[in-house]
Amino acid sequence: MSVHKARDVKKITTHQLQEMKMRGEKIAMLTAYDYSMARILDGAGIDVILVGDSASNVMAGNETTLPITLDQMIYHATSVVKAVKRALVVVDIPFGYYQGSSGEALRSSIRIMKESGGHAVKLEGGSEVKDSVLRILSAGVPVMGHLGLTPQSIYKFGTYTVRAREEAEANKLLEDAILLQECGCFALVLEKIPAELAKKVATSLHIPVIGIGAGPDVDGQVLVMQDMLGITKEFKPRFLRRYADLNSVITGAVGKYIEDVKSRDFPNQEEKY
Ligand code: KIV
Repeated sequence: MSVHKARDVKKITTHQLQEMKMRGEKIAMLTAYDYSMARILDGAGIDVILVGDSASNVMAGNETTLPITLDQMIYHATSVVKAVKRALVVVDIPFGYYQGSSGEALRSSIRIMKESGGHAVKLEGGSEVKDSVLRILSAGVPVMGHLGLTPQSIYKFGTYTVRAREEAEANKLLEDAILLQECGCFALVLEKIPAELAKKVATSLHIPVIGIGAGPDVDGQVLVMQDMLGITKEFKPRFLRRYADLNSVITGAVGKYIEDVKSRDFPNQEEKY
């Protein structure tokens, strides 16, 4: 096994993530949807960039992730891939482009890989999407699973509350996690489930388990970039740690710009040709 830390690695691959789990090095993953931010995240040394369908919320202003289209996801992913030198880029297959048939799942994945240059796809669900997962993997496309609170099923759940608190749902989640691993998924996201259950899943699987609202005892963490940078203000789940208050920084900068324009302070003598 390699003794290199992921920070010294030129390019993160699914194999590197597996090694990180084996040597107990946590995996840091964030979402990004555009070139400029992806460039900053990659330069800062993030391991995995997820072009999440949360773009539907934070980029397009939709209430749920359901409306975003495959073309829109490919547009976001293409911009991100152009910026990235080191991180592994995982792209969400949006709602409606893989559940219907495994053939459609394969076609969607091939479009994502061919048109955006992304390195892997992510999809939500367990046994229900088994055929799709297998078909995508058969084409050599790496697949990341996603269990627990799966936002594409929000109308089935009816609420964004913690999932799998009940024994039956927790058992099904563990079974699904093992199934996804057996199918050949290279990693799994667990969203908003009890920390004890997440720990059990992470220790039962040999593939990396990345948590969001799943406690500390998993192999890595993921957050939505706009949330952790404090661009979104209203979204305040317990699991979210804010690392900056960019909303206030941007509001202050824009306020000052407006003031300078109105007062004719900007542009000054040096700022003209
Ligand atoms: O779309 C997304 O941002 C996600 C993360 C919350 C894991 O799926």
